Amino acid sequence: SVPIVRTVAELRALVAGWRRENLRVAVVPTMGALHEGHLSLVRAALKKADRVIVTLFVNPKQFNSAADLAAYPRTEEDDAAKLAPLGAHLLYAPQAAEIYPDGFSTNVSVNGVSDGLCGAFRPGHFDGVATVVAKLFLQTGADFAFFGEKDFQQLLLVRRMARDLDIPIEVIACPTVREADGLALSSRNVRLSPAERQIAPKLAPVLFDATERMAEGAPVGQVLAQAGEAILAAGYDKVEYLELRSEEDLLPLAELDRPARLLVAAWLGQTRLIDNVQLSPR
Ligand code: PAJ
Repeated sequence: SVPIVRTVAELRALVAGWRRENLRVAVVPTMGALHEGHLSLVRAALKKADRVIVTLFVNPKQFNSAADLAAYPRTEEDDAAKLAPLGAHLLYAPQAAEIYPDGFSTNVSVNGVSDGLCGAFRPGHFDGVATVVAKLFLQTGADFAFFGEKDFQQLLLVRRMARDLDIPIEVIACPTVREADGLALSSRNVRLSPAERQIAPKLAPVLFDATERMAEGAPVGQVLAQAGEAILAAGYDKVEYLELRSEEDLLPLAELDRPARLLVAAWLGQTRLIDNVQLSPR
């Protein structure tokens, strides 16, 4: 099975050994409850680097509600069992005190890219993400970091943070992994009731239809309004946001005049699901 380390000191000692052998190191940050989306990042990392560190830390600083944090699935043993057959080299699973020791006072906040979308509806969330990911980058000293396009705003935020802070790491994006029915894999999907699980996959086709129509030249505002109605008609309870943004810097777009992403957050009962799809003008 994959070795587990819990302290920065042990982590650094192992990485230093790899460095002496001139091995290239990748990190895959996760909050555990690993699914095929996470595993696709690990496989991509194994292709690119000689050693792959998976991190498992349910980061309290990025949760908006204590209830969401408490309900977050914790399945470390299963996670370690899933990583071993892939050939991942190390699981770094620190305790909260290792990441946020007494007196911890530093906050990493990335402007611009964290405006709007999830940043508007989850106050403090992206500061929590940027802070913990900066620490994980510095603790591992990895050459490459792998992130999913599923969390597209997070991906751009992490890239910006690493550039701005001169952390010498290349952030590599991997495509969203979906169930056969189109539902984007998420650790939160297990919270869906059987009835909600039937409704959940109706979100992605609405996005794909909308991007197709926008690419054909249909007016963006009109397509967005109809897509929002279609999501509600499919059985979702609320559309938190549904927006067209530029792919490069997430600026809001009134028309499709450059590579873009259509991004959505929608509620199904007590569960908030996010998804996004790439599109370009033809
Ligand atoms: P978590 O939600 O566990 O996701 C870890 C990584 O897996 C992220 O890069 C995310 O984009 C990716 N991922 C999740 N679902 C995916 C899917 N269906 N297809 C492809 N990739 C997927 O994101 C976090 O944890 C945290 O915010 C973290 C970055 C670890 C910081 O705490």
